[in-house]
Amino acid sequence: MKYYVVTYGCQMNLSDSERIAAVLGSMRYKPAEEISEADLIVINACSVRQPAIDRIYGLVEKLKKNKKEITTILAGCILKKDENKFSKIFDYVFNIKDLPNWPKILKKPAIHKIHDRENFAQLRNSNNYFDVTPKYSNKFSANVPIMTGCNNFCSYCVVPHTRGREISRPAKEVITEIKNLIKKGYKKIWLIGQNVNSYKDPSTGSGQAINFPKLLKMVNDISGEFVLNFTTSHPKDFSDELIETMVKCKKLSTDLNLPIQSGDDEVLKRMNRPYTVLQYKNLVKKIRKALPNIRLSTDIIVGFPGETKKQFNNTVKTLKEIGYGVAFINKYSPREGTAAAKMKDDVAWAEKKRREKILINLVNKK
Ligand code: SAH
Ligand code: SF4
Ligand code: F3S
Repeated sequence: MKYYVVTYGCQMNLSDSERIAAVLGSMRYKPAEEISEADLIVINACSVRQPAIDRIYGLVEKLKKNKKEITTILAGCILKKDENKFSKIFDYVFNIKDLPNWPKILKKPAIHKIHDRENFAQLRNSNNYFDVTPKYSNKFSANVPIMTGCNNFCSYCVVPHTRGREISRPAKEVITEIKNLIKKGYKKIWLIGQNVNSYKDPSTGSGQAINFPKLLKMVNDISGEFVLNFTTSHPKDFSDELIETMVKCKKLSTDLNLPIQSGDDEVLKRMNRPYTVLQYKNLVKKIRKALPNIRLSTDIIVGFPGETKKQFNNTVKTLKEIGYGVAFINKYSPREGTAAAKMKDDVAWAEKKRREKILINLVNKK
């Protein structure tokens, strides 16, 4: 019996898929090279933009045409309305937080190897899906989740609705996972979460809780040669303590993603991003002064509800001023249940495409 995992979305979903693969491997499944060979197919969904959801319907239709008998599982970030529709076409719709229970639910735990049996027992007894040791998909670079969920509720974003509130992972677990990776020869470690800057070790009292800067330093101090990265960080939580710590972390990568989303104060306010362009620029100044080699990248949304040409031009101006190495440009698409979905999506698609192209040309020119 073979399995295949299709992953949409961000590094967080990639990491979850590696844990899904480990659980399926602890059952009677072997990885399939091609989706067409698989008996069990897991689709790990992303709901940030509609096209990635639409593609799932097409994919399932294609799979069903294939005569082979297959079991289909949907997991990942899914909105309630889609969940109801998907539950009619998938055999199972699973929550990633239930991952340790998947084998029980799938009712096919035909375990044939002793070490798999041990692994299976261990999985069943854990109440945290981060306890599952991932089947890493890359031999040099690994994603290590330090938290999941988000409390920020940017008005356009589904993540707080699909992933729920922030939950941090105990620092001890994070450190153990990374030490094992370094022992295996990994050269690049990514600390990942939707909002890594608000990390707080749940196993320590609130007074002395290990925060993100402290965790970063602890990881940096693990012996061995490796490059340390983190993503994603919200500008509002990028503290002086973090900048000071970054200076001390010699293993830290020179790449830093700092999503600005818009270069206009009015739009930022409607996005529920609690900073002004000036505050963001001052933060960049501070970071660059402390870390002169840093290469910044950013995320932008064009065509947010009510974004005028003038407001868009402020984004153009801001991008020019800051000078990013890379910018990920996204055309706004309304997501059900978010605050922005109640605003009028009044920038025409063609205009969103035009704005997107202007920004892509601007960043690619350099
Ligand atoms: N936690 C990250 C973002 C995760 S979503 C952060 O705060 O930066 C990744 C990117 O998708 C966002 O940065 C945003 O630019 C884009 N995005 C999110 N919702 C969107 C929407 N409704 N329409 C278009 N782009 C969106
Ligand atoms: Fe979404 Fe904002 Fe949270 Fe990022 S910080 S995941 S954009 S709500
Ligand atoms: Fe998408 Fe979920 Fe990541 S909605 S961007 S896969 S956190």
